[in-house]
Amino acid sequence: MNKHLLSIHDVTAEDIVRVLDTADSFREVGTRVIKKVPALRGRTVVNLFYENSTRTRISFELAAKRLSADVINFSTGGSSVSKGESLKDTALTLQAMGADAIVIRHSSSGSPYQLTKWVKGSVLNAGDGTHEHPTQALLDLYTIRERLGRLEGLRTAIVGDVLHSRVARSLSFALVKMGAEVTLVGPPTLIPPTAPRWGVEVSYDIESVLPKLDVCYMLRVQRERQRQQYFPSVREYARLFGLSRERVAMLPEGALIMHPGPMNRGVEIDSDVADLPQAVIEEQVTNGIAVRMSLLYLLLGGSGAAGAPPIPVEEPEQVALIGGVRGGSPAGTSRGAHGSEAGGPPDQEKLEVGADA
Ligand code: CP
Repeated sequence: MNKHLLSIHDVTAEDIVRVLDTADSFREVGTRVIKKVPALRGRTVVNLFYENSTRTRISFELAAKRLSADVINFSTGGSSVSKGESLKDTALTLQAMGADAIVIRHSSSGSPYQLTKWVKGSVLNAGDGTHEHPTQALLDLYTIRERLGRLEGLRTAIVGDVLHSRVARSLSFALVKMGAEVTLVGPPTLIPPTAPRWGVEVSYDIESVLPKLDVCYMLRVQRERQRQQYFPSVREYARLFGLSRERVAMLPEGALIMHPGPMNRGVEIDSDVADLPQAVIEEQVTNGIAVRMSLLYLLLGGSGAAGAPPIPVEEPEQVALIGGVRGGSPAGTSRGAHGSEAGGPPDQEKLEVGADA
């Protein structure tokens, strides 16, 4: 894999499979009582968020912490950015403090690329302007593969405000790379003129597309990015392109409904549709942690290269200590914290739980 993840164009189909397979291992960590492994102990991850975020910021923070990295959360409020400090000087400051990876979200397209010129560590794009959001696309692929068992040959639609959506760009590139069919659906004003060059189909009629889909991916209407009137009214947009119960009934049985969040319930997706069993929106969020753990692990020297060592999800020595075989207690571990009774045998549950240090 490349040192940085700025765009889906930075990864090959083989890289994507490796990221998703590695995320499978890390997802299991999220089911443990102690959701932590020592894979990135001693490494420093900085979350540099110049733009609001709930899912991506928290998910990257949890991912890095579950890998035992030191995590610094930087947001513009309360930092020297409010005194006029530039991105470059902020980057150089973080570099001087020894950041091994910088996760950046910025309203300017291309700022993650700019950052790579100033820092030695890995840069991960957590969303830049209307350009790309590659980690969102990878967690979406993970969710689709987990639910439907494959990516190749799937029929997918990405519906809504494609023009302003970095998610739509990254996800289109990723799905096409993995052999899925993609149709972009929306009003002509919200489909980028370059879209046909992405290897996708374009439709302006959602109801003609729904019956053939395996995945219906709804996009948020990004009113904060819209600098002009792209449709007459929100009500008309919802009527023509929103996913209602009636439109869900046009989907084949087993088709997934997805949304990257945050949602405008009642605009691009009806509130009750977002809560249907086939809507996997919360699963996308959960899977985001494992996928971001996988990316941090692979980019930060877990195993970028073929033949790299397996993921250190267990530390045999500490597992044995926790299991009571060698006696003593390693720093930072406590039997009580693992919910196990004193003096019990090192059964399988304790071994797995005890993988943390
Ligand atoms: N999907 C997504 O990027 O959400 P946040 O803006 O909350 O990070």
